[in-house]
Amino acid sequence: MAELGHRVIGLDVDAQRVAALSAARPPFHEPGFAELLTRTVASGRLTFTTDYADLAGADVHFLALGTPQRADGLGADLGMIESALDSLVPLLAARGGARTLIAGKSTVPVGTARRLHARVAGIAGATVVWNPEFLREGFAVSDTLRPDRLVYGLADPAGAEAEHEVALLDRVYAPMLATSIPRKVYSLESAELVKVSANSFLATKISFINAISELCDITGADVADVAEAIGMDDRIGRKFLRAGVGFGGGCLPKDLRGLISRAGELGAVDSFAFLRDIDAINTGRREYMLRRARAALGDSLEGRRVAVLGAAFKPDTDDVRDSPALDIAVRLVGEGADVSITDPAALANVRARFPSLHAIEDVEEALAGAELVLLLTEWPLYRELDPARAGTLVAARRLIDGRNVLDLAAWRRAGWDASGLGRR
Ligand code: UDX
Repeated sequence: MAELGHRVIGLDVDAQRVAALSAARPPFHEPGFAELLTRTVASGRLTFTTDYADLAGADVHFLALGTPQRADGLGADLGMIESALDSLVPLLAARGGARTLIAGKSTVPVGTARRLHARVAGIAGATVVWNPEFLREGFAVSDTLRPDRLVYGLADPAGAEAEHEVALLDRVYAPMLATSIPRKVYSLESAELVKVSANSFLATKISFINAISELCDITGADVADVAEAIGMDDRIGRKFLRAGVGFGGGCLPKDLRGLISRAGELGAVDSFAFLRDIDAINTGRREYMLRRARAALGDSLEGRRVAVLGAAFKPDTDDVRDSPALDIAVRLVGEGADVSITDPAALANVRARFPSLHAIEDVEEALAGAELVLLLTEWPLYRELDPARAGTLVAARRLIDGRNVLDLAAWRRAGWDASGLGRR
């Protein structure tokens, strides 16, 4: 927002995080973010605070809080959003009728925005709108500044207030709208559903191709061929058809489960039963990888040296939330394997969660003495490994490419017993 030219105050309840951001130190790994933060902080347009009083007078309050999966594994925990709104209410009332928008960015169960809207309905000038973001980690900066679309969800898109609400959001996004990014005005409910539907659909594509990849393993077909040819049908599209150990991260798994849970509450249990299978196929990929690892090492992992390349849920992030790579590494240890895990960005997060895991910075050190190598996050560093050089480090040249990114023929030429998932 500051990059777009606005004066922005970021609030967080975590004083350490606010101090780091104020010093332009990013609290996570995201390409291009450090430069953007440095530039916008230096411009004076972006400051950070822990004090809600500093937000008084703002025209728009963006709620960009986490909505983590609840401990019961299903619905979203809305506690952070509720408490932020509680803290904002006195500020809104003090605006004395001046128009103020509360724009939700967080992913929430459909129906949440309407409830929050009702809570501020009595405050003159204040309205809740829903303005979901669709950024991917690793591409957060470009996805935010150049999104595919902007979605505005309004309480009453045909009502008297709609024009003012749209005009205010248009002022926020003016530089983007000038570049012809499509902007869609919907109801609050549609805007909420766009986000979880998009993520659940993407999850469905991945689990679909992963199910097909199992058939490929059984029959000798190659999932990359199948994905390539079906992707050429533009009704299907090429993207999100990469078979492997499945999806993870803070969004796809959570949003899928959140949609199943909310659909159940709303009386549409049966129509969403298939999404449980999408989730089960995905988590089943982790067990599938363990089966392949056991088979590669003659049925028992006990005492065997395994090198795991990658811990983040995907490349270009240090995020290990629901990471297939980390989960597989932990399960290998559970079966008695002697595991070294390496990752160029995520090891601090790995150590914080699993201090006993053998986390190694240097990839060559992680490979040393391995009897089996598993590539589980497709960082460029691992895609570019030299099979001949790697072969001199390990105890046995066995590799399973859990992300289907390596040139298996080249690895085999260098003497490796190399396989992918669903690949010939
Ligand atoms: C996702 C959505 O893409 C984004 O639009 C939304 O705003 C937030 O959720 P993100 O969680 O950052 O973004 O990751 P994404 O790039 O979607 O990847 C999700 C997972 O799917 C990763 O674990 C990735 O490895 C996996 N994946 C992706 C596959 O297994 N196969 C594919 O073909 C694509």
